[in-house]
Amino acid sequence: MCQACGSSSPRWMGRCPGCDSFNTMIEETIAAERPRAASASGSTGPVRLESVQRDAALERVSTGIIEVDRVLGGGLVPGALILLGGDPGIGKSTLMLQVATLMSRDGPVLYATAEESALQTRLRAERLGGNTHDLYLLDGTDLTAYEEALASRPWRAVVVDSLQTVSDPDLESAPGSVSQVREVAARLMRVAKSASIPIFLIGHVNKEGSIAGPRVVEHLVDVVLMFEGDRQHLFRMLRGVKNRFGPTNELGLFHMAHEGLVAVEDPSRALLAERPRGAPGSAVAAVLEGSRPMLVEVQALVSRASGIPRRVVTGIDSAQAALVLAVLERHGGQRLHDKDVYIKVTGGVEVEDPAVDLACALAVVSSRTGVPIPDDWVLAGELGLTGEVRRAPRMAERLREAAQLGAGRALVPFSGKAPLAVLPVWRIGDAIRALGPGGSKGMEEPADDDTS
Ligand SMILES: Nc1ncnc2c1ncn2[C@@H]1O[C@H](COP(=O)(O)OP(=O)(O)OP(=O)(O)O)[C@@H](O)[C@H]1O
Ligand SMILES: [Mg+2]
Ligand SMILES: [Zn+2]
Repeated sequence: MCQACGSSSPRWMGRCPGCDSFNTMIEETIAAERPRAASASGSTGPVRLESVQRDAALERVSTGIIEVDRVLGGGLVPGALILLGGDPGIGKSTLMLQVATLMSRDGPVLYATAEESALQTRLRAERLGGNTHDLYLLDGTDLTAYEEALASRPWRAVVVDSLQTVSDPDLESAPGSVSQVREVAARLMRVAKSASIPIFLIGHVNKEGSIAGPRVVEHLVDVVLMFEGDRQHLFRMLRGVKNRFGPTNELGLFHMAHEGLVAVEDPSRALLAERPRGAPGSAVAAVLEGSRPMLVEVQALVSRASGIPRRVVTGIDSAQAALVLAVLERHGGQRLHDKDVYIKVTGGVEVEDPAVDLACALAVVSSRTGVPIPDDWVLAGELGLTGEVRRAPRMAERLREAAQLGAGRALVPFSGKAPLAVLPVWRIGDAIRALGPGGSKGMEEPADDDTS
């Protein structure tokens, strides 16, 4: 069975026919399909939608951390099975222990861990602080013990740390293998649904960045959250990848402190705190992350290439960056095909909003020409392939956030009332011209100048 995609083959293969990965096939014994009692599913045939019981208990409960609630779409839905994925050491156990501690104020919470000893968990909980009176620990790897423990009390929430270490001893496959992980997720799912207990499953992420082995469980669980950001960076980001109960575009920002993960209250201010003043190649973008407008700094460095030009991009999608560079070359008069271009969003933030394009573009122009973008400028707009700057949604909110943080002028595809001065830009050339004479150098002719 392929450990990456779960497809099976009757014999070993070097390359998986399902997902083309190499060396992901391992032998797993597939137990004969257990007869499932027809009544086990509880299905009694079709029911009128209107006669479905509206359970009062189905109200969302808070996890105790506003950022987590927001990413979940407004709190925890009872009976939800939530998969939390993330790189090793990113802080999954820490975050979940914090949630468990906070939730135990209002009822018993079970933290089941096979990853770390009970003592380690206790020491961590003490470091994180908070009252843990009604927090229970379960040590061990046996799935049946988990099921019993889950049935033993009306848990307010359960954390399983981690999905890959729990296993059903009756299955012959190794813990963490596709069959095991599927079985564990499916059985915990049944408990979650029947007892209306929200269960968090922590899942490790493999080199490719998907939840190890089991992409196969992603369809099964209700919510998939990813905890991202690398250790050196300022921020850890909690992002929804899938959510049966809410939108997936919300972002929770944290930083790791001694007392655990602390929500970043004012991400824009934090992100701009270390911004260099008057340096070419730095631009501020007003982007939307979920429901929240946020200011991020985009930096670019353009230098003469020696050999094949390099494009190194962090924080935005590299295909999007390539598009920005192509538009600059074609419609902005910027000669870049013989330059190395580095683009990065500072703070380790990953921006998905296409409105970051304009800031990206102007940062590149600024670095190439050596003309700094004024400190109080803010940009937002998506670039089209014909050089047009496209409207970005919820411009008013972006501008308000920008004004609040002291921006004085916005370069945006927008004209209308705003809390700060607006310079409307409808084409990429408008923004480049606004940057000044140095910026528009070579704009009218085919791009062939070189400032270095
Ligand atoms: N005393 C401390 N003060 C601040 N940060 C700490 C402290 N002890 C540990 N950390 C940080 O906590 C992080 C580890 O968090 P945690 O164990 O929750 O990660 P994880 O995602 O569960 O990792 P794993 O995949 O190994 O289970 C590390 O980044 C570490 O630097
Ligand atoms: Mg852990
Ligand atoms: Zn595969």
